[in-house]
Amino acid sequence: LFERPILAIETSCDETSAAVVVGRRVLSNAVASQIALHGKWGGVVPEAAARAHVEALLPTIQAGLGDAGVKLEDVAAIAVTNRPGLVGALSVGVTAAKAIAFSLEVPLIGVHHLEGHLLSVLALPDELPMPHACLIVSGGHTELVSVRGLGDYEIVGETRDDAAGEAFDKGARLLGLGYPGGFAIQEAAKAGDPKRYSLPKGLVGDTIDFSFSGLKTAVLRLVEREGDRLNVADAAASLQETIVSVLTERAMRAVRRLDSRALTLVGGVAANLALRSRLAAACEKEGVGFLTPPLSLCTDNAAMIGLAASYRLARGERNGTDLESLPTAEL
Ligand code: KG4
Ligand code: ZN
Repeated sequence: LFERPILAIETSCDETSAAVVVGRRVLSNAVASQIALHGKWGGVVPEAAARAHVEALLPTIQAGLGDAGVKLEDVAAIAVTNRPGLVGALSVGVTAAKAIAFSLEVPLIGVHHLEGHLLSVLALPDELPMPHACLIVSGGHTELVSVRGLGDYEIVGETRDDAAGEAFDKGARLLGLGYPGGFAIQEAAKAGDPKRYSLPKGLVGDTIDFSFSGLKTAVLRLVEREGDRLNVADAAASLQETIVSVLTERAMRAVRRLDSRALTLVGGVAANLALRSRLAAACEKEGVGFLTPPLSLCTDNAAMIGLAASYRLARGERNGTDLESLPTAEL
């Protein structure tokens, strides 16, 4: 790994973040959230996100450096998320990263957002077992990945429609719980009965793919059918239970199929406490390791981008000032 300070920048969606990482140590991880901005529209508005990144980026970089006690001139490399994401949002981080790398005359490296999530577990003190299975669950992605080594990934299962985070977000919206929905559902579910309403699990049979669009429709029907009688806490608990049990079932199936020694759980939805404890218990029963990063490294952040950059920089990988911002990209 790269044992000098990396300044990492993440602006792919609705969080502006800057972190300092040395090797696999996270020295700081400053995040400026746009939740309040997008909350009033109930979703991320791309143009507004890009403008908010422009305003927040320099103060966030200052906070990231300040929290780490690292001076700008001591930064030895710049890492930035350049794919995939909202292009206007990505460009803000990428342009700033190029300018800083150019003026400091230090290496620049572009990082795939999902590789950032996948390697967020490097922040843990544990040895990362290879090969292992990884469940990436975020607002835009639901993937089961076979991780054979650093940079050696194969997607073995994925969603055919909505992501797990979208299922939380859309469900929360239908239940009047606001945006973003994952945390709101988790909190409302605490007082609810998860068995009260029966909701569909999507695909049946021996699959490690996912489908969450039927769940959204079922919640809509439930809200229409129950009207004022709907118990929101019970509905939130039932929705969370359905998503958690589908994710757990498919993840453990992937672990067995890949004959994996460990499962890692990453991405924004990995912050869900019910999911964390369910998967921890399932892995213990199966006799395989379970690793998931602290909550601050689950939702979008720059520290994970710095961790992924750390091994790529150590391998000598570099990008030039022609580094592009890409809306879609293979892992
Ligand atoms: O990784 P992330 O921050 O952004 C993307 O790359 O998409 O993931 C955001 C997603 C949102 O859908 C949000 O509702 C969900 O993560 N999320 C949660 C929790 N905290 C965030 N979902 C369930 N439970 C939570 N506690
Ligand atoms: Zn993400």
